[in-house]
Amino acid sequence: MMNHFLDLHTTDPAALRHMMDTAHAMKTARAGLPRGTRDADQPLAGRMVALIFEKPSTRTRVSFDVGVRQMGGETMVLSGKEMQLGHGETIADTARVLSRYVDLIMIRTFEEATLQEMAEHATVPVINGLTNRTHPCQIMADVMTYEEHRGPIAGKKVVWSGDGNNVCASFLHAAGQFGFDFTFTGPPTLDPEDAAVRFAREKGVRVAIERDPHKAVDGADLVVTDTWVSMHDPESAKERRHNQLRPYQVNEALMARAKPDALFMHCLPAHRNDEATSAVMDGPHSVVFDEAENRLHAQKAVLRWCLGL
Ligand code: CP
Ligand code: NVA
Repeated sequence: MMNHFLDLHTTDPAALRHMMDTAHAMKTARAGLPRGTRDADQPLAGRMVALIFEKPSTRTRVSFDVGVRQMGGETMVLSGKEMQLGHGETIADTARVLSRYVDLIMIRTFEEATLQEMAEHATVPVINGLTNRTHPCQIMADVMTYEEHRGPIAGKKVVWSGDGNNVCASFLHAAGQFGFDFTFTGPPTLDPEDAAVRFAREKGVRVAIERDPHKAVDGADLVVTDTWVSMHDPESAKERRHNQLRPYQVNEALMARAKPDALFMHCLPAHRNDEATSAVMDGPHSVVFDEAENRLHAQKAVLRWCLGL
């Protein structure tokens, strides 16, 4: 069976925990080394990885590229627009062709269906680098970051304030898989998708929807937000979303309702002083740059798992 990494809810929780442990170990093993130093074991030696982007990216692009190279592999960064994929070639044919050249495909795309079709027709593992619906690599890094600072995330209270978007859906999947409670606070029109809420509840964790952001954040161990307008959202929705989401801004007054040792996360890129103030982004609770760094370590563990290394 192919180890695709498509979503957190469809990946075995024991495998997720194993990847998390690998990520911590791999990070520790290269502490203090210059970024370009190769890992001692070179698990990807001789492997070629295609990184396809149909949307912009800084972190996903650079962290995958650096990670593969640290592990001894090679990468090819491809823009969807410049591929035949952007000019009518089917996803299925693209998957079949790329599988003849490379050992693994990472894709950032729009529709969930594109990712699924790629995985269905590829004969090499496929990794989800973000879709309109989910962003599992991000949440692997977020769970890693939480545990690095505060120990096991199981049983903790995580509060999402803002848009119930793709990153939020993957957080709900993680709540079910890693066993933490999740509270969403935001306007009803921007609630997280039902299926993700149901998944977490069926796994036995508490999922609450609380319209009052201050009540929601009471006693939180971790407060998370993300941009109010995602890459797939129409520009025309911007003003309405800003008006709806302003009460859910993460600022110092909101953070004061969380536990004193609560962490603050944002997957970045941030629109400072919209979804979160600079005082919070740069404040004592914030671990946003550790999160960004941990994309690298978490994804290296995902790559190993996908390739059975
Ligand atoms: N957080 C994240 O995925 O960032 P990029 O869009 O820069 O890849
Ligand atoms: N929700 C954001 C995340 C960016 C990393 C988006 O999809 O644009």
